Amino acid sequence: MTKAASKRKFLTPALAAVALVGGLAAGSAGFSRANAEDPAVNTDAAREMFHSWSCSACHALADADASGGVGPTLDNPKLTRELVIDRISNGQGAMPSFGGQIPDEEIALLADYIVSANKTAE
Ligand code: HEC
Repeated sequence: MTKAASKRKFLTPALAAVALVGGLAAGSAGFSRANAEDPAVNTDAAREMFHSWSCSACHALADADASGGVGPTLDNPKLTRELVIDRISNGQGAMPSFGGQIPDEEIALLADYIVSANKTAE
């Protein structure tokens, strides 16, 4: 009897978990769609990526409160979108390549963010 009871107890939370995961997946899909349409939210996402991909460990960028000193400062208005995309995708010297790890559209988002952070700082 204890066996049957514990089986029933297990089943209900398992079903609830499946429903919850389904709901979360649908919710996060909606969230990323909203992000793509809202430049203000994209800046937040890019700032977060700057830290989560450890750019901040090696680079300074005032907008992201980053002060890494391994690579050159990214507080540099001369940086172009093309150069930033190229460095992230291909690396150079001690800078690792993130191509194939970070999806292309997120690399472009990081590049837009770094370039625009320099424009607003000027
Ligand atoms: C392990 C340390 C390290 C990490 C992590 C790192 N970089 Fe770099 N980065 C460097 C170094 C070192 C250079 C200089 C490379 C060279 O020119 O020889 C560099 C160069 C760059 C440049 C060119 C800067 C210039 O003035 O020429 C950009 C842009 C850049 N990194 C962006 C990023 C971004 C964005 C990230 C995160 C996705 C990142 N880096 C992660 C070390 C790093």
